Amino acid sequence: MSRHVLCVFGANLALLGKREPDVYGDVTLDRIRKAIEGRARRRGVRVSFSVSNHEGELVDALGRALGSVDGILINPGAFTHTSVALRDALLAVNVPTVEVHLSNIHAREEFRRRSYVADVATGVVTGLGARGVLLAFEALIDELEGKPFPDEPTEERN
Ligand code: DQA
Repeated sequence: MSRHVLCVFGANLALLGKREPDVYGDVTLDRIRKAIEGRARRRGVRVSFSVSNHEGELVDALGRALGSVDGILINPGAFTHTSVALRDALLAVNVPTVEVHLSNIHAREEFRRRSYVADVATGVVTGLGARGVLLAFEALIDELEGKPFPDEPTEERN
């Protein structure tokens, strides 16, 4: 059975591409989703998406994922900074999780520095734009597969 990754996108992320492009870039969520689907196909991973502006819907989606997903990629949007409920849902699902943000949340307003998700996540990618979402996805799959660090081949000495 192939591994299953759930990608969760929270408040206002459906507006990517149109929303504050100077902060979040011009790549739409649809393009990000297609790029993730392409990578998932190439890596033989099953992927599903939950996109909502409603905290409770995301909590429900995570609850349904309990026992049926191997990893989570999550950009909770503004819920990052407010939601104990999402944090608790992630703890309940208890699988490797990568938190991702398009903008660098540490280089913005003070209130964005606090994440309720970061310390229960395996890792965080922030500030690398849409590319960072793909890097986070690849890193999560590497983690799930236990892929070793890609050392350079050592040169033959004679
Ligand atoms: C965001 C950062 C959050 O602070 C903000 O509320 C968002 C988007 C990001 O991807 O940079 O909606 O998660």
